[in-house]
Amino acid sequence: MLDMTGKVAIVTGGGGDIGRTTAVTLVKQGAKVLLVDLNEDALAASADAVRNAGGTVETFAADVSDPAQAEAYAQKAVDAFGKIDLFFNNAGIEGPAAPIVDYPVDAFDKVWSVNVRGVFLGLKAVLPKMTQGGAVVNTASVAGLIGSPGLVGYIASKHAVIGITRTAALEVAGRGIRVNAVCPAPIEGRMMTSIESNAGAPKEAFESTLPLGRYGTPQEVANLVLMLLSDEASYMTGSYYTVDGGSEAS
Ligand SMILES: NC(=O)c1ccc[n+]([C@@H]2O[C@H](COP(=O)([O-])OP(=O)(O)OC[C@H]3O[C@@H](n4cnc5c(N)ncnc54)[C@H](O)[C@@H]3O)[C@@H](O)[C@H]2O)c1
Repeated sequence: MLDMTGKVAIVTGGGGDIGRTTAVTLVKQGAKVLLVDLNEDALAASADAVRNAGGTVETFAADVSDPAQAEAYAQKAVDAFGKIDLFFNNAGIEGPAAPIVDYPVDAFDKVWSVNVRGVFLGLKAVLPKMTQGGAVVNTASVAGLIGSPGLVGYIASKHAVIGITRTAALEVAGRGIRVNAVCPAPIEGRMMTSIESNAGAPKEAFESTLPLGRYGTPQEVANLVLMLLSDEASYMTGSYYTVDGGSEAS
């Protein structure tokens, strides 16, 4: 089950909590990974984690919102490993917390440049190089399904990721390539610590809104991504899947 032997995967946001854990999870199933991130120190730490798990890894420092750099990381995967089978299109930023009337326009544009333009550019660069039967997972969020006061840039960007996912899935279904999105609720790690700080609210305030009463872990997201990227998900495309502790249901 969930065998990834011989598969080549690209993970963007590979220096972050979810990207790193997912990369380790993929190599444990036999995949080789190219990690892409803006942050070179974080990339190096993730590469160490992958190697410590016995995996084969390459890194590429790139800004996913830059078209030439997106093309370059896709080409790097082909140059290093000969092909691309799997793509975890995951890099994202949270932006500030402020009501719409106070939300800085440049911050809105910045969140969109990474979370929407970056996801679009990743697909634009990677899809032409993907093998038949490949699979993509874009990282959306429960923030792509519901509203939340104070996070307009992030909320709007993650709704857009679901629209991009549906469109991409329809465009490449004929090549046997599947495209889905994952929608995590708050997950332990840097991003939620930042959102708590920006919102001036303690972790408990966020946890109290979650039916399971706690944040998820990066591993719980990685488990879903692994399944969606695997051949076990062969009839699943164009949809989103939550890993949200019951959040969407409440
Ligand atoms: N953490 C959560 O609670 C949560 C919940 C739902 C969805 N998500 C989404 O999951 C994804 C991963 O988040 P995470 O929790 O691992 O956060 P993280 O901050 O730990 O990781 C994000 C990574 O993306 C990288 N990055 C940012 N801008 C980039 C750019 N322009 N080009 C290349 N890399 C860039 C960062 O350097 C960082 O390493 C994001 O898309 C995020 O929106 C996170």
